[in-house]
Amino acid sequence: MSAVLLVDLDVPLRIPHRRTFLMPHRLAASVAASLAAAGLVTAMAATPASAGPDRHDDTTLGRLAADTHRYFGSATDNPEFSDAAYLGILGSEFNSTTAGNALKWYATEPQQGVFDFTQGDQVLDFARRHHMSFRAHTLVWHNQLPDWLNNGTFTADQLRAILKKHITTVARHYKGKVYSWDVVNEAFNEDGTYRDTIFYRTLGPGYIADALRWAREADPHAKLYLNDYNIEAIGPKSDAYYALVKSLRAQHVPIDGVGFQGHLALQYGYPDTLEQNLRRFADLGLDVAITELDIRMYVPADATKLATQADWYARVTKACLAVRRCVGITVWDYTDKYSWIPAVFQGEGAALPYDENLQPKPAYTAIRDALRSAGRH
Ligand code: XIL
Repeated sequence: MSAVLLVDLDVPLRIPHRRTFLMPHRLAASVAASLAAAGLVTAMAATPASAGPDRHDDTTLGRLAADTHRYFGSATDNPEFSDAAYLGILGSEFNSTTAGNALKWYATEPQQGVFDFTQGDQVLDFARRHHMSFRAHTLVWHNQLPDWLNNGTFTADQLRAILKKHITTVARHYKGKVYSWDVVNEAFNEDGTYRDTIFYRTLGPGYIADALRWAREADPHAKLYLNDYNIEAIGPKSDAYYALVKSLRAQHVPIDGVGFQGHLALQYGYPDTLEQNLRRFADLGLDVAITELDIRMYVPADATKLATQADWYARVTKACLAVRRCVGITVWDYTDKYSWIPAVFQGEGAALPYDENLQPKPAYTAIRDALRSAGRH
């Protein structure tokens, strides 16, 4: 792979601007065809997204976010790589991506000591070809572990060695190619106590500091994150993260950022303290990011719910824009066609800014307007 550096790693807040060119679609298509023929880009990459919203101006969420030195990203997943229309929008509208599943332990080390980077490489390759930065997700998590790990019995020494080898091998494979790693995902319970996982149970809370140190050793340039849900508002769970990152910092454990997943639901109310919460973490000298944003509702959707959802997307966007160290926002895929919500939350869905037919919803326009007004200031 050629070494295209997507992010200036020495200046964490600078994301290269993605300039898109304003040209008639027919011309764009012919330019795309010749570039593709020259092997410079894939035809898909340069073809204007047919289902794209309001293509009369040259703005995209990624471009507008870049104007504020941030990214606006979307998660994606390997099965979606057969959907050309989907990929057209993914590659043109967003300037960052996260592999939704490809880098989870079950995928990267399906058998003990046997590593598989096929799926992760596919997503990374797409990201690089489309000049998108890449958030890598995730090295240590209690879910989607391979059977050999879930069902095995290990002493602390054995599990520590397994964890170190996993982190070292995976992070080394992607060394220099990813913007950030979610090193540990979902380490706390709602009440702020440590989640009882195989890692916590066997190794104690020190597994988090160890994981961060091993990740830093393996890829010194990747931004290292802790990531969790239900930490958008100030409360016991986000307080636990606040205390943890403060103490990690005091012990010189490498930690660069906290990821706020942002799996919101209309029925639970908007997390009013989001901006204040982001700011208190930023004030510790950390980056913060919204990493898995979706805003679900009971289906069917209606105009009122979609308007509230749009308002919430705008508010999250503005909260991030108001905090200098908030480096970007990622939606957990961009279209309801590929959202994880309906499979997991019964009767809920319609959580993303594009509908199932890849058409932009009111949320899309609300995000774009929020980004655009910030860019003008
Ligand atoms: C989800 C994926 O999107 C699904 O495809 C998969 O079946 C389950 O995991 N928090 C996380 C993500 O950190 O990794 C989860 O992703 C969603 C919740």
